[in-house]
Amino acid sequence: MSRLDSFIRRLSAQRACLDAAIVAIGSREGCVLEIGLGNGRTFDHLREAMPGREIFVFDRQINAHPDCVPDEGHLFLGDFRETLPAATRRLGRRAILVHADIGSGDVAASRSLGAAIAPLIAAMAAPGARILSDQPLPSDTWQAEALPHGVEAGRYHLYWVDGA
Ligand SMILES: C[S@@+](CC[C@H](N)C(=O)[O-])C[C@H]1O[C@@H](n2cnc3c(N)ncnc32)[C@H](O)[C@@H]1O
Repeated sequence: MSRLDSFIRRLSAQRACLDAAIVAIGSREGCVLEIGLGNGRTFDHLREAMPGREIFVFDRQINAHPDCVPDEGHLFLGDFRETLPAATRRLGRRAILVHADIGSGDVAASRSLGAAIAPLIAAMAAPGARILSDQPLPSDTWQAEALPHGVEAGRYHLYWVDGA
């Protein structure tokens, strides 16, 4: 598969999983966490699809398109390992959709970051929440959910928090 095909498949899988999670949460109460603003593509997708939802965004730096930078009250700047606990103190356990797009070119480091932030996300995830990520997020708090049709296993990761 060419690198172009692989790139397109990755982004198609990401969009399909985001859309499936958005449908799954429906009108349940709760806020959204976008972990990894990057250039703001997926943040823009989430806010367009859910205009009424509060979305809190995390990154260590702002590198996004100027139209895709959240206001200060919805931005946690710094390392995820510090900003997620700070967000838990402020927001509590009321995230109904969490998207963690955190990968870099370093596969081992990206996996290890996923494992490190999984319990921090678990502390914020409401019952019935959907959690999705480009990295596996190991946790007893949630279970894997079937991927949308056409998304290859392992290309994206979608989870469901029981208890709703
Ligand atoms: C793959 S990009 C996100 C792409 C974004 N979702 C988009 O659609 O444009 C990953 C982002 O995670 C951020 N990041 C990676 N590790 C981090 C860490 N430990 N703490 C805070 N931010 C981190 C990087 O700065 C980068 O902006």
